[in-house]
Amino acid sequence: MTSTTDEIARLKKVHNAIILAHTYQPGEIQDIADFVGDSYGLSVQAAAADAEVIIFCGVLFMAETAAILNPDKKVILPVPEAGCPMADMISAGELVELKRKYPGYTVLCYVNSPAEVKAESDICCTSSNALTIAGKLPENKGIIFVPDKHLGSHVHEQTGRPVVLWEGFCPTHARITPAMVLAAKKNHPRACTMIHPEAPKASRDLCDKIFSTGQMCDFVKEGPHTEFIIGTEIGILHTLNHRTPQKKYYPMSDQITCPNMRRGTLETTLRALKRESGLLVNVSGDIADKARGSLTRMLEMSR
Ligand code: 13P
Ligand code: SF4
Repeated sequence: MTSTTDEIARLKKVHNAIILAHTYQPGEIQDIADFVGDSYGLSVQAAAADAEVIIFCGVLFMAETAAILNPDKKVILPVPEAGCPMADMISAGELVELKRKYPGYTVLCYVNSPAEVKAESDICCTSSNALTIAGKLPENKGIIFVPDKHLGSHVHEQTGRPVVLWEGFCPTHARITPAMVLAAKKNHPRACTMIHPEAPKASRDLCDKIFSTGQMCDFVKEGPHTEFIIGTEIGILHTLNHRTPQKKYYPMSDQITCPNMRRGTLETTLRALKRESGLLVNVSGDIADKARGSLTRMLEMSR
């Protein structure tokens, strides 16, 4: 009998498809993906993809980004309901209103946002390149940062740039409390504590490193530390254990899970490849063109 993974491998060849998976995806999906990465790595991979079909195992804004950067390819999100609550906390109309209130400001938009919001922005960023990009924006202008107030405040703290924040946040990272950080540090006193910038400032301030998921994966390879407390979605422990198995990783807490990232299975991936289910992500017209401009500027400026 053919196993699900064999069938996925066969269908990938038949349809000239690749599978991209975020580091928060369940381990069984990461294991069959052609590329596992953070939001930035996946955008680069999507832009460079030499395939007709991209099966995007992640959430809607990521698949939308891939579709915008690849207008000639079919981008499929295996679980159509996998959205991101933070991305849904801002609309294009609300951003237009904010721009009216702060004329002349540069709009820096976290990729965790709808295509329509990217289209109304000057440039996008991910948590990997937010500081680099903010540091390159015109110094005589303020920055409107949407939608994540925590990443926006991190940008302000690290670059000293004036930043207008929007009240968006990630419900998963918002669960990382200072008490949780202190308890994890007490349990693992020798470990280096890493936290994602989507976490609140009071918790970030207690940690050794504030890193995107991609930066966490790179950092553990180098340096003297052998143990790490991981302050982000627990799916990344699979990536870390797979890529750098000689080090030890402890979740900040088992409660740090993103329900939307956990919806996918091997079965949903297979059904997406068979085109029995899944969402064919389509962004077209003016919105796609303008959003592509903001994303392309990000890719150029983060080099
Ligand atoms: P990164 O992949 O940029 O670290 O972002 C994490 C995240 O929450 C994506 O939804
Ligand atoms: Fe959205 Fe947070 Fe889930 Fe990332 S972890 S997809 S920001 S809800």
